[in-house]
Amino acid sequence: MFKDDFAWGVATSSYQIEGAFDEDGKGLSVWDVFTEEGKCFGRHTGEVACDHYHRFKEDIKLMKELGVKAYRFSLSWPRILPDGVGKVNQKGIDFYNELIDCLLENGIEPYITLFHWDYPYELEKKGNWSNPDSPKWFLEYAEVVFKEFADRVKHFITFNEPQCFIGLAYDKGEHAPGLKCLKRDLVLKMHNVMLAHGLTVKAFRKLVPDGKIGYAPCGDVAMPLTDSKEDIEAARKRYFDVTANNLTGNVAWWSDPIMLGTYPEDTEAFRLYGKYLPKSYKEDLKIISEPIDFYCQNIYTGSRVRAAGDGYEYVKHSVDMPYTAIGWAITPKNLYWGPKFLYERYKKPIIISENGIACNDFIALDGKVHDQSRSDFIGLHLNELETAIDEGIDVAGYMYWSFMDNFEWAYGYSKRFGLVYVNYETMERIPKDSFYWYQNLIKNNGRNLSESFK
Ligand code: FCB
Repeated sequence: MFKDDFAWGVATSSYQIEGAFDEDGKGLSVWDVFTEEGKCFGRHTGEVACDHYHRFKEDIKLMKELGVKAYRFSLSWPRILPDGVGKVNQKGIDFYNELIDCLLENGIEPYITLFHWDYPYELEKKGNWSNPDSPKWFLEYAEVVFKEFADRVKHFITFNEPQCFIGLAYDKGEHAPGLKCLKRDLVLKMHNVMLAHGLTVKAFRKLVPDGKIGYAPCGDVAMPLTDSKEDIEAARKRYFDVTANNLTGNVAWWSDPIMLGTYPEDTEAFRLYGKYLPKSYKEDLKIISEPIDFYCQNIYTGSRVRAAGDGYEYVKHSVDMPYTAIGWAITPKNLYWGPKFLYERYKKPIIISENGIACNDFIALDGKVHDQSRSDFIGLHLNELETAIDEGIDVAGYMYWSFMDNFEWAYGYSKRFGLVYVNYETMERIPKDSFYWYQNLIKNNGRNLSESFK
C-alpha cells in the first residue's frame, strides 16, 4: 500500500520545457550552443520548447487538475547566474519566484532539481567539471538558490543523472557539449561533481535546517532471471558492478561515494582508473558523503541477469519483448528490483524521480489522444513498486516523466513522454487519456491499482 503522504508527482526540466533561451538576461547553456549547431534530431533546439516560460500558469492549472501532490522541475543555472558565477539575474529569480508561488497557491509541493544538464556555457569555456574550482562554482549557484527560494521550497535535489551529463556529454559525445574525453579527465570530472554535491549538502544543512535534500542518479536495473538466491545475488552484483567500459554509466561509482563514503574499490573500473583520482580523494569523501535525506533514482528499463560461475551473465531479452517508441525494453519488474537493491545497499527512503514511456502519440479523429499503453505502462510499473513497498522498502514518492511532451535531448521533439500532448505549432496542450487515468489513481492514493492488478 502507498503511504498516505506518498508524493504522487510529475517531473520536467528547465531546458526541455522553458524556451525563452535568451530572454530577460539569461546566459547561454551548453545545450543552447550544441543545438544551435544542429547536433540534435531534425536540427531541433530548445529555443522555444514548450514555451513554459510564458505559459507556466496554464501548465500549473493543468497540474492542479491532474491532482499531483508534487512537481519536480529544475532551475536553469544560466538563467539565474548568466555567467555561471558572479552577477545574479534578478529577472531569472523573479520567474522562479512566480512559478513557486503559483505552485504553492495550487497546493503543489515544489521539488527543485538544482541541475538538470543546462550547464552555463561561460563555465564550459573555463574547463567545466575538470576545473578545480568547479565544485565551488556549483556551491555558489546553490547558495543563491537556497537564499532566494528555500523559505518556501523544502525539497531539493542536487544533480539529475550525472551518468548522462558526464557520460553522454563528455564520454560518448552524444549530449552537449558533445566531447569524448580521456578516462583520466572523466574520473576527475566525476569526482568534482560529487564534491560539488557534498559541499552543497553541507551548506544546505546550515542554510535550510528544515529542508530535505537528495540526489537523482540513474542506471539500467539488473533483474534476476529467476527467483533463485543465486540469480538474485548475481543481479545485485551486476547492478553495482563497474566495468572498464562502464565507467561513466554505472550506479556504484556515482552513488557509493555519496551514500557510503567509499569508491567501489572492488571493481574492474576502480582497479584500472582509480589512480586518476586526486590525491586528496579520501579527504574529499568525507565531504562527499555528507548524509542526504532521500535517495532518488530515475528508472526506465532493466536487463536480465543470472548466476554464472562466481559472477553473473546477461540473458538477452526474449524475442517478444516489447519496446517503447524510443527503443527501451518494457520491463516493469525494474520497479521492484531497483528500489529493493538500492534500499538494501543505501538504506535511505527512495523516490522514483523519473519513470515513463515514449509512445507514438497523435491526435485522433475525436480531437483526443488515446494512449492506453502509457496508462498500462504506469500501472504495470507501479504494481511492482507497490509489491516492493509491501515488502518493507521505504518509497516516498513517484514522479512520472513527464508532465508534458517536451524536447527530448538528442531526439529533439520526436519522442513524446507526456501525460499532456503539446502541439508545437500552436502550443496547445491536450491532456491525453493517461492524464485522466493517473488523475484517478492519485485521487485513490493508488488503492484502485491493487484492485485492478492483484
Ligand atoms: C532521462 C532524463 C530526462 C528525460 C528522460 C526521458 O534520462 O533525465 O530529462 O530525457 O530521460
